[in-house]
Amino acid sequence: MYKTFCQECGPAEVPHFLSKLNQTVGITADIFTTPIRPVVRFIILNFNRQIDLLTYCLLVSLSFLKIIKLATKPSSDLDTDRAKCMWQAANERKILVKEVWFLAKPLNIFLAKLPNGKRLVFEGLPRPGGDSPNLEWMDNKGVMKIKFRRAGFPVPRGDSCFTLSKGMKIFREIRKNGGMTVVKPTLGSRSRHTRIHIKTEDEFITAFKIAKQIGPVVSVEEELRGTVFRVVLIGGKLAGVLRRDPPFVVGDGQKSVRNLVIETNSDERRQSHVFHAIPFNEEMDAALQIQNINRDSVPRFGEKIIVGTKIGRSQGGTNVDVTDEVHLENKKLFLDIAKYLKDPLIGLDFIIEDIKKPWRGQMPCGTIEINTIPFLDLHMYPFSGTPRDLSGMLWDEALRTA
Ligand SMILES: Nc1ncnc2c1ncn2[C@@H]1O[C@H](COP(=O)(O)OP(=O)(O)O)[C@@H](O)[C@H]1O
Ligand SMILES: [Mg+2]
Repeated sequence: MYKTFCQECGPAEVPHFLSKLNQTVGITADIFTTPIRPVVRFIILNFNRQIDLLTYCLLVSLSFLKIIKLATKPSSDLDTDRAKCMWQAANERKILVKEVWFLAKPLNIFLAKLPNGKRLVFEGLPRPGGDSPNLEWMDNKGVMKIKFRRAGFPVPRGDSCFTLSKGMKIFREIRKNGGMTVVKPTLGSRSRHTRIHIKTEDEFITAFKIAKQIGPVVSVEEELRGTVFRVVLIGGKLAGVLRRDPPFVVGDGQKSVRNLVIETNSDERRQSHVFHAIPFNEEMDAALQIQNINRDSVPRFGEKIIVGTKIGRSQGGTNVDVTDEVHLENKKLFLDIAKYLKDPLIGLDFIIEDIKKPWRGQMPCGTIEINTIPFLDLHMYPFSGTPRDLSGMLWDEALRTA
């Protein structure tokens, strides 16, 4: 069993060998099933309701046989906040939700019975009206970039590759224009094994090897300018937008970075299970180095200093609801993406400097990733700004399309 703490995985650690094996098997299966994919797509699109009903009956039978357990409420420590919010919103709408447990573990697979009797089976979150055929590639950052580029939606320059030599070619191409580079597993999440701010070939080689540890295909792309925004589209509508801030402090002209971090960490919002203190670690020193300062430097009054390279909440990252501030042209772009994807639940990671200004004047900006089971709980508990019940919106959409 994999036990050693992995700095590149962060707190949501995955077993490297199993992750790579799983992805390799998935990619191989994709290649071999290409000829029958249109048939599978046809069945999924046209018999969604029947498939859900059959799976529902099968899972209920397995629970009668005591092979699996069906839990009627979330586990306080084993279920995620996403599952808890989804469950709570379902209860409020008289929707009966159960979770599949196997070998004393919740599987994040849910059964739901709507008030009109319709049965659903889903992973993580329901997909009102059924899956879109695009769901099969939406999670793949490499395929997404190619498709979005063709459709005219902004994405970072770059490509995906299996080998270091191909990766190096892409890296050199990006560096020709002076941009910094990001290297990450093409299939991945939670910033695992992702390196940003890459400038030298040595840094690139290290980053490539790190990304390759958990997946066979690596994305090498231009680093976009700005902040990561999480844009959620439900039923083709803009449901919520959060700005996800990396850990940062603001100078007062007197205190050192170290003391500013200590002060920032005393914020009571960081003492909950949702947000956390900024850790003093290598990531902090790497971020400070980019800004040519260290922990003892004294930033000017009002100067914003980034003190980490990852935006995750466990790394001291925070977020702000900015749904009402999105410029109309950016909103149009997001709605156009939803129309193109034809999927009822989309979480975009979109990087842009200012969401209040049109995207066309802020290149390079764009989508770096699509999340098909986004953490809707983030919107329910933002660090600041209006809390939004996106799980409730999702269930309302499920009821509307039922
Ligand atoms: N092209 C990019 N430009 C700038 N930052 C990026 C880029 N790609 C990824 N990142 C950073 O790495 C993080 C993780 O990348 P992402 O593509 O969202 O993968 P995942 O969330 O699945 O790990 C992002 O939240 C962002 O901070
Ligand atoms: Mg992401």
